[in-house]
Formats: sequence, C-alpha cells, structure tokens
Amino acid sequence: MSRVCTRTRSTVTGNDARPEPFKTGEGPRILRSTAELRELTSHWRCQGFTVGLVPTMGALHRGHLSLVAAARAGCDRVLASIFVNPLQFGPGEDFERYPRDSQEDLAQLRAASVDAIYMPPVSEVYPVDFATTVHVAGAGFDRFEGAARPGHFQGVATIVAKLFSATGPSRAYFSEKDAQQAVIVARLARDLDSGVEIEVCPIVRDPDGLALSSRNVYLTPDQRPDALLLSRWLRECQLAFKAGEGLADRLRGRALAIFGDRGKIRLEYADIVDPMTFAPLEFCAAGARLVIAARLVGLRLIDSATLGGRPIP
Ligand code: PAJ
Repeated sequence: MSRVCTRTRSTVTGNDARPEPFKTGEGPRILRSTAELRELTSHWRCQGFTVGLVPTMGALHRGHLSLVAAARAGCDRVLASIFVNPLQFGPGEDFERYPRDSQEDLAQLRAASVDAIYMPPVSEVYPVDFATTVHVAGAGFDRFEGAARPGHFQGVATIVAKLFSATGPSRAYFSEKDAQQAVIVARLARDLDSGVEIEVCPIVRDPDGLALSSRNVYLTPDQRPDALLLSRWLRECQLAFKAGEGLADRLRGRALAIFGDRGKIRLEYADIVDPMTFAPLEFCAAGARLVIAARLVGLRLIDSATLGGRPIP
C-alpha cells in the first residue's frame, strides 16, 4: 500500500498519529518483505521521524550493538537488517557456513531496543531474474579487500543501495572495522544521491585487542595468539608513530618481522594508506589508516586503525 505523506512531525500529537503498521505488541517489528519495509519506514518518515539503518549479516556481537546504540542515540527510529548477502561472497568463500543464529540475534536486538528488524529470505532480495548490480570503481577500491575478494564490493554496494532505496534512512551506521567498505558506502550514498548520512563508528575489541568479528566463532583457543598478531602490529605502529617514526616502510617491515616466523598464520597485507584513496603512503602522518589482513587456516582476519587515533588496547 502506498501512502501520501500529509503531515510533519510538528503536527503530530499523541492520539492524532496514525497507528503504526505491523505493530504486534511489545518489541521490534519483524519484517520479511520489501513491501513491509517500505510501508513501515514511509510511515515513520510521514510522522517526521528520523530513521537510522544498521545493516548487518547477523551473528551479532558487541561491535554490531555499538552501531545500534549509535543509531538509537542519533535517530528517532532504528531499523536493523540481518541478511547474509550471497552476492558479496566469492566462490570458495564461506557463504554456506557463515554463522547464523537468528533467535540469539533477535534477542540481542530486542534488548537493544531497535524498532524493527528486516530479515528477508534470499528470494525476496534477489528474485530469479534479478539483473541489476552496483559497480564500484573509485580510486583504491581495487586494492586490499577489493583485490583479495573480486566482486565483493559490488555485492556490498548492491545490497546497501537496495536497503537505502527501500528504507530511505536519514542515517546509516557502519564501522572502521571494514574500513574500505565504509569509504565505498559513503561514496555510494553521495554518488546515487541517496541523501543518506553515513556514520562510521569505532571498532569494538576484546580486552586483549582482538577486533570482534562474527567469524571469530571459528577461532579455536590455540589459534588466538596468532589472531592477536594483527592488533599487535596496529598497536606497535601507533606506538612507533607516537615515538617519532616517520617512514611508512619501517612500519611495513614490522609486520614482516611479526608474522615472518609463524607457520600457521599467513600475512596477506599490512599497509599504511591514505584514508580516502587507500593509496600506500611513503611517510607516516596523523590520520593515515593502517590496514591489515591475514589468513589463519580456513579463516581470514582483517583489522584496521588510525595513526594518531584511538589506541589499541
Ligand atoms: P557485518 O560483517 O555483519 O557487519 C555489519 C557492520 O558491523 C559493519 O558496518 C561492520 O563494519 C560492523 N562491525 C563488524 N565488526 C565490528 C566491530 N568489531 N566493531 C564495530 N563494528 C563492527 O559488513 C557487513 O556485515 C556487510 O558487508 C553489510 C554492510 C551488512 C552488507 O551486507
């Protein structure tokens, strides 16, 4: 059902407001179709509410919940999406075995007071004759994750563009954990005239420094010391920069030294880059982005930090 928006928030008073669609008692609305998503979010916009969108692939952890908290603080209504997006997984990647636990995810989102959760089946998002994808080609998008995972960012851009189009959020929340993804999404929001403001939130870590990730459930306790090498390199870079290190190659060299003699973990890249173009830098500068990825048996880990930024624990 399409609606014509006839009032703004300032004209709405308690009893005067139209009843909210899909209201089924307490707790968040669960939406399975694009039509429901459109109807609820257009109702919110008609009421003059700002809408915060938190896109996720589920298997939620405190990192995801920090984005929900930011959206809760910044917007009148919060919508989280849970969708393991097949389009962003390459052949041989872990789409089939990506961790899924919708009951636990729903409980966490309910506790975090989201207003609605969009969790569509794949056939709703990608009907059999689905034919339109978003191609990203900005400077640096073919480096690092773009090079390691061909087609990944087209898949991300396509699902994010679809979510923006169906939801019409005021703001959408992403994190520095996926540093290139955050830059690509900001560019997409601007290039497609979506009017969506992108908020990029800090990385949530375990006390020992490991960045939280849905895929950490694959980590066995004996692999953890190896997994911690990523945050160790980020920490060492930040400390070296603070102590006056100016040459980016010296920081690259530290990564080779840290990972060099380990058998099970293999460094894929460790670099100091421009935070917008991801072009490798010659000289260290405050605000430069550190990016690192490594493969630990069947698991791929990525992490990131800013030189001169929030220190790694
Ligand atoms: P997912 O890996 O589920 O992550 C959803 C959001 O949570 C992303 O913005 C990601 O950067 C953020 N996130 C992951 N780990 C975090 C941490 N430790 N601290 C803070 N935030 C963290 O990223 C995706 O899903 C998908 O590509 C998606 C954008 C949903 C498109 O399918």
